[in-house]
Amino acid sequence: MPDRREVLVTGGAGFVGATLVRRLVAGGDRVRVLDNLTTGDRVHLEGLDVRLLEGDIRDQAALAAACAGVDAVVHLAAAGSVVASVEDPVTNFEVNVVGTFGVLDAARRAGVERVVMASTGGALIGEATPPVDERSLPKPISPYGASKLAGEGYAHAFARSYGMRTVALRFANVYGPWSERKRGAMTTFFRAIRSGTPILIYGDGSASRDYTHVDDIAWALAAALDRDVPGGSVFHVASGVETMVTELAELCRRAAGVPDHPIEHRPARPGEVTRNFATYALAEDVLGYRPTVSLVDGVREAWAWFDAWERGEVVRSAAPVEDPTQG
Ligand SMILES: NC(=O)c1ccc[n+]([C@@H]2O[C@H](COP(=O)([O-])OP(=O)(O)OC[C@H]3O[C@@H](n4cnc5c(N)ncnc54)[C@H](O)[C@@H]3O)[C@@H](O)[C@H]2O)c1
Repeated sequence: MPDRREVLVTGGAGFVGATLVRRLVAGGDRVRVLDNLTTGDRVHLEGLDVRLLEGDIRDQAALAAACAGVDAVVHLAAAGSVVASVEDPVTNFEVNVVGTFGVLDAARRAGVERVVMASTGGALIGEATPPVDERSLPKPISPYGASKLAGEGYAHAFARSYGMRTVALRFANVYGPWSERKRGAMTTFFRAIRSGTPILIYGDGSASRDYTHVDDIAWALAAALDRDVPGGSVFHVASGVETMVTELAELCRRAAGVPDHPIEHRPARPGEVTRNFATYALAEDVLGYRPTVSLVDGVREAWAWFDAWERGEVVRSAAPVEDPTQG
């Protein structure tokens, strides 16, 4: 019986990590998570057979210890907010550029070939007529988008310079369970509905996004780990469907059973692209990726999960945390 594969997931206690780690564990992998628990939460990993190492991707010693002996890395840890990156570009740079470089370099030093990392579609490409794809010219308009482009650059360079099999997946806007800490539109709308306050829409509501369910994103991450994909590859992982913010608000109101919940408009925020959706044809060809969750079903399920979480019906208790520099 061959040894089970061991995968390090940076940022594995976050929103996407919670679903990915479940998927990997269910598939028979041993999983280690390195997370500094800033936006992540150890309760996301409650009950799973996972080693949670509390540490920072800017800390070389923590990275070296976390990478030692693993077969592959999935790099999700990031400062993930566009708005926060505009307010504080330095922290965004340190976590997303210096931190991502550190993850790649620690993997290289530990002899780990396969590094799959989370990138972004909309924020990295910037203002372009959608649908965008891998041939679209990246012109980020926020520090967050620029930081993800820099990470992709290093991933490609490490593939060519050191023969590593790096893969960057450019996620669309991800939604689904374990997103209670997120500041994205859907969770913010759900929060407004639950608290009885108006749904706030920045701009006139015609801005659009590509909402992709976290199960589909986790499927693509696992496929990028499993398949023989050339190093330095980049794929858009999306639903391929353009949804305006006003349409999303409507779906959220309907899913929650409050079709008349009030909506208010505020001025658009800098750094956010106006229209975005992506084509996933390359990911379909190479990874076999196809989105499986429709937005109507996904929003209904996401609301049910969020409502249960807020009512305290999702099991919460502490998972053990280790110091990554110890053993
Ligand atoms: N959620 C989306 O819509 C979306 C869209 C495009 C790309 N992405 C990317 O996907 C990845 C996962 O996003 P998410 O939505 O799960 O975000 P998240 O904030 O829920 O998860 C990120 C995790 O990284 C951890 N982390 C942050 N800084 C760290 C550091 N310095 N050291 C160690 N751990 C650190 C956080 O505690 C958290 O658990 C990120 O790279 C993000 O940029 C997300």
